Amino acid sequence: QAAGSIQVTENSFINKLKSSGRSLVVFYGSQTGTGEEFAGRLAKEGIRYKMKGMVADPEECDMEELMKLQEIPNSLAVFCMATYGEGDPTDNSMEFYEWLKNGEPDLTGLNYAVFGLGNKTYEHYNAVAIYLDKRLEELGATRVYELGLGDDDANIEDDFITWKDKFWPSVCEKFNIESTGEEELIRQFRLVTHGPEDIQPNNVFTGEIARLHSLQVQRPPYDAKNPFLAQITVNRELHKGGDRSCIHVELDISDSKMRYEAGDHVAVYPINDSNLVERLGQLTGANLDEIFSLINTDQESSKKHPFPCPTSYRTALSHYVEITALPRTHILRELVEYCSDEEDKKKLMLMATNSQEGKAMYQAFIVEACRNIVHILEDIPSCKPPLDHLCELLPRLQPRYYSISSSPKMYPETVHITAVVVQYKTPTGRVNRGVTTTWLADNKPEPGKPLPRVPVFIRKSQFRLPLQTQTPIIMVGPGTGLAPFRGFLQERAYARANGKEVGESILYFGCRHRDQDYIYQEELEKYQESGDVKLNLAFSRDQKEKVYVTHLIEKDMELLWDIIGNRNGHFYICGDAKNMAVDVRNIVLKAIQEKGGRTEAEAVQFIKKLESMKKYSADVWS
Ligand code: FAD
Ligand code: 2AM
Repeated sequence: QAAGSIQVTENSFINKLKSSGRSLVVFYGSQTGTGEEFAGRLAKEGIRYKMKGMVADPEECDMEELMKLQEIPNSLAVFCMATYGEGDPTDNSMEFYEWLKNGEPDLTGLNYAVFGLGNKTYEHYNAVAIYLDKRLEELGATRVYELGLGDDDANIEDDFITWKDKFWPSVCEKFNIESTGEEELIRQFRLVTHGPEDIQPNNVFTGEIARLHSLQVQRPPYDAKNPFLAQITVNRELHKGGDRSCIHVELDISDSKMRYEAGDHVAVYPINDSNLVERLGQLTGANLDEIFSLINTDQESSKKHPFPCPTSYRTALSHYVEITALPRTHILRELVEYCSDEEDKKKLMLMATNSQEGKAMYQAFIVEACRNIVHILEDIPSCKPPLDHLCELLPRLQPRYYSISSSPKMYPETVHITAVVVQYKTPTGRVNRGVTTTWLADNKPEPGKPLPRVPVFIRKSQFRLPLQTQTPIIMVGPGTGLAPFRGFLQERAYARANGKEVGESILYFGCRHRDQDYIYQEELEKYQESGDVKLNLAFSRDQKEKVYVTHLIEKDMELLWDIIGNRNGHFYICGDAKNMAVDVRNIVLKAIQEKGGRTEAEAVQFIKKLESMKKYSADVWS
């Protein structure tokens, strides 16, 4: 479609709004589903305030139509926008973001509000939502309520409900809506159960992400909706002692036509623990083999089902919904209706309200006690929700990302993962296990058996080695932060073995104990001997005082400044976003001031400039 012209296409959200008598559209920029979930909740609540709402994915809409949303009286566009990585928009909102940034559309008459989803441990906290909120106003649109910012590092659910409790009254005031705000619990999806007479087994989804039989009949290109079913050829323990586990997994991609570069990420679709799936079946009294479909009651919605249907309850619980995440308050609100005991009803209701007492109870009973849906149903025994409603309410199971720990130069046919297995004891005495890492740890190749297989896709990243191999690099990667640097080291060793001149590769690695969690020790020592790496090691718990990578870098500030200030080198950090990455950045700032003779403000600018030139890169997660 030509820019500027507004045509009526099937992507016309205005037509959908008009034909179904709606005035509220909630767009989402979502990478892991939370933004989409929040958008859904707002759209659904609109009805309480006499504003029938609709959720929309900017990627599937002609966003230029924002210019004529005002044709619908009292209309409102809300944006639930996540910020990702280094202050980037999500994949599905990228095009919209670019359009707003680079174009000058006249948005006079558009009413809007923005809620941002971000994480304070990251440098560019909520950058996308902050920009969007400001930019829409610049382009002439009218803000009906102030920007809301959610922090996933603290309690984003709390931020969201606090924001929306003030947002709705502002909307009502703006549009002169008189509403009691009475709650109406309405189901978004209608249940249809299928007997053997009306369904062919061949038409039932068994874990595919989108296309039926896509895992049986594989067809490239592979991506998030069409993952490649990779064989696990190697799966071994990296720790030599201690009670934690870190696994090295090799995925065979030789038949996939997928390509990767050192620094990219691989995404893995997990399967939920079958014990938990069975337990949910018991707790809800459902027959897990029953085949069912959930069908959107809103015929205008582009999302016909919450996940591929028809399918069995067992498949839905294993592949399609998140059963170990901590349920958000709107789920607790729905559970109230299924309690036979009055005290239980009160308790759940309280946790779902936005009062101080309710928030404190949610924090204690759900967040601190790490109770997932299974634990809630176990501990509130009078609560017996039907399983189909739970399937509607639980968020969609998301793939998990891993920094690829190999180089395609050395391993063109495999992608390597280095992952710590998540397992922890909760205050209620239960053991919670990470979905993906537990599944991976349990699926080792065994002699005489077919290799385990797992759906994966590759996501390109910006985390890249310098184009020139001579450029010196500094890498800081304690713990699993070592992952992408193993790939970098392989890449540079390969280049050197092939006669290229390679600059210094300086690595700072840290772990607890030399003889327990020093992962890839033999490989690193070999590279050290051959001159492919200069190793700096911090074993934090091998002596009385903690020694961290940050302490080592602090001693090497002269060298650090020489490399980034004088020798055009690149600086990389990978691993924990919350503490380590922040501390490392502060030391770099200090080195620029003390060794580079800059003021604090100049040092900040200096790093910003390095970042924009891709000479300072972070690959961090929390
Ligand atoms: P989940 O089922 O997702 O459970 C994890 C959740 O459990 C946590 O988010 C937290 O809410 C909770 N939790 C965990 N521990 C505790 C505790 N002690 N107390 C209370 N709650 C707790 N991981 C790696 O190991 N290696 C990598 O190379 C790597 N690269 C990544 C790259 C990127 C870009 C990103 C975004 C993440 C990366 N991760 C990496 C993290 C990885 O994606 C997963 O988040 C991690 O493996 C856990 O997944 P899981 O499904 O096993 O656990
Ligand atoms: P600790 O667990 O003994 O505190 C990998 O996780 C290594 O990073 C561990 O040795 C861990 O030490 C260490 N670590 C923890 N916090 C850190 C920080 N802020 N900066 C650098 N390293 C840190």
